[in-house]
Amino acid sequence: MTDSIRFLMCSPDKYDVDYVINPWMEGNIHKSSRDRALEQWQKLCYIIKEHAVVELVEPQSGWPDMVFTANAGLVLGKNVVLSRFLHKERQGEEPYFKAWFEDKGYTVYELPLDLPFEGAGDALFDREGRWLWAGYGFRSELDSHPYIAKWLDTEVVSLRLMDERFYHLDTCFCPLTGGYLLYYPPAFDSYSNRLIEMRVPPEKRIAIAEADAVNFACNTVNIDQVVVMNQASDELKQRLEAVGMTVIETPLTEFLKAGGAAKCLTLRVTEPVRTEIHAKIPVESRTIRLEGHLLDSGIISKAIDVIVETGGSFQVLNFNLGEQRQSTSTAELKVSAPDHEVMEEIMTQLIDLGAVTPPQEVCDTNIETVTQDGVAPDDFYVTTIYPTEVRVNCEWVKVENQRMDATIVVKETDQGLVANCKLLRDLKVGEQAIVGVEGIRTIRKPESREQRNKKEFSFMGAGVSSERRVELLVEQIAWEMRQIRDQGGKVIVTAGPVVIHTGGSQHLARLIQDGYVHALLGGNAIAVHDIEQSLLGTSLGVDMKRGVPVSGGHRHHLKVINHIRNCGSIAGAVEQGVLTKGVMYECVKHNVPFVLAGSIRDDGPLPDTQMDLIKAQQEYATLLKGADMVLMLSTMLHSIGVGNMTPAGVKMVCVDINPAVVTKLSDRGSIESVGVVTDVGLFLSLLVQQLDKLTAKSE
Ligand code: ARG
Repeated sequence: MTDSIRFLMCSPDKYDVDYVINPWMEGNIHKSSRDRALEQWQKLCYIIKEHAVVELVEPQSGWPDMVFTANAGLVLGKNVVLSRFLHKERQGEEPYFKAWFEDKGYTVYELPLDLPFEGAGDALFDREGRWLWAGYGFRSELDSHPYIAKWLDTEVVSLRLMDERFYHLDTCFCPLTGGYLLYYPPAFDSYSNRLIEMRVPPEKRIAIAEADAVNFACNTVNIDQVVVMNQASDELKQRLEAVGMTVIETPLTEFLKAGGAAKCLTLRVTEPVRTEIHAKIPVESRTIRLEGHLLDSGIISKAIDVIVETGGSFQVLNFNLGEQRQSTSTAELKVSAPDHEVMEEIMTQLIDLGAVTPPQEVCDTNIETVTQDGVAPDDFYVTTIYPTEVRVNCEWVKVENQRMDATIVVKETDQGLVANCKLLRDLKVGEQAIVGVEGIRTIRKPESREQRNKKEFSFMGAGVSSERRVELLVEQIAWEMRQIRDQGGKVIVTAGPVVIHTGGSQHLARLIQDGYVHALLGGNAIAVHDIEQSLLGTSLGVDMKRGVPVSGGHRHHLKVINHIRNCGSIAGAVEQGVLTKGVMYECVKHNVPFVLAGSIRDDGPLPDTQMDLIKAQQEYATLLKGADMVLMLSTMLHSIGVGNMTPAGVKMVCVDINPAVVTKLSDRGSIESVGVVTDVGLFLSLLVQQLDKLTAKSE
């Protein structure tokens, strides 16, 4: 027996499963036998006494989980951080544990109210005393870790728990003598797994299987070379023995019903202090400010989701709720992350939601020089569709050519600083690219309840597709197209071949004739099938009047391609009188520019099809400049391409029979996009009808 090692335990006289605060307790209320629990606990106590001294704290009625002394607090030397239980079911244990520690001469530190931390259940010292592993995600809050680092003057490594069954760190993680680690990797997020792997070399990691994990094999008491646990598979026993451990199994099934086992039932109250180790904590915090219809638009809950789901934690510093329906609200949040990398990940997403750093904390952006053509510095900022500003030399500079998935490059010119969105491939050596998330803000228009509801209405309305609702949407779209045309604005159409197959070509041709379309973006296929229909009356070999395949029709589109190749180009075919109607014909006739972007599956292609995709993207981007509206007609590929090049503020109308495509494309997180789930041929015919009605009215 080693005199210097002491454990605190609490007899199960008052133990029971009285409530459910973890998944193990579910279905087990009053299902444990106190006699059997007592017997199992005594056996455990007896085993531990052979290797250490056991001290006892008096059990209290009404606090049945007090047996789990691991949750009393976290001890290092003569200091203890008292637990602040998350659940009220256990909060009443705190004063009893506090009294015990004080009685034994410990200095007791207490966390602020509402900052939960559940003691040694969620914080385990490396057995060499090099640092403290601290869990968060279920019972303990990340923001408690800096307090612990400071009070116990130790380095804290924060690990995020992901599996509800392993709600305390000690249910899935057990540092062992000699720097070994017994743990269940799937209980942690990938980032925490990386941290673990960085600190514990592979030969020291004993990763266990789920079957052992659910038997609480990680909930082990380790004293020197001895490990005491509820149960271990033969394989695990062999692995532990191979590294010099003696495995002692002792059944603790009655305690498993409450979600605890060997380690939970004990608290090591003698943890030697290594004087050369000092407080160190990578946890970072910063303040952000949000403004807008925070509740109505759901921004506040989105922000909170982003923080928590990315592995951070938050505190609301203040929330000013707008009083009137029209007034906006402001909120200041303190955001914490386990380290810098996670903080940057959270901040990037918060910036997308319109979060800004409060004026007193605003910093300049970080800038790095491009050292290789076409390659951005690591950690470069990735742009969104929202208007963005960057802070350089204490000044906010608006970013030009806003688009998604680009980098930001800043440059000193005669007119002062300019910032531009640039694609990776266009970067040049020596350019100054923005890295990190410091001093970047995006401007979001406040979205009111009405606007949001309207969007949802249009969406879902069309989704359930009552015809009347589609009609209502078409009325609205027609009205806007009419306005744009009359004001000299720009409507871009991106369309797939389905437009032709569904009989929409005559309607689209009409829109072009009437001046509603200012550019057409698509692939080889829409042009091929449109011309096929004009020349041969079929689309992909299907007779468009009778709706049946014609014999030999599968060769039609190739004949058409050949024909146009013979004419040199689509315009050539029009000039030579070969092509006399249809979408492409109208484009040529009315000088509506078009770009046909090629793809791997293109037959032919037509002479006009741009098979150099980088050039095709550039041509798309050029035509999209200054667009007021984009009509996306049944093409996921071209629509996504277009979406990426288009800044927020441009109205997008996405029509597709497949609701998944519509959802994907119309959800740009802004009110400018409308989704219509319907047959595109039908949509176009309604649109033409509606525009005609507007014309009739105005004449
Ligand atoms: N019923 C207890 C709870 O949910 C079990 C605690 C187990 N303790 C531990 N250190 N894992 O809080």
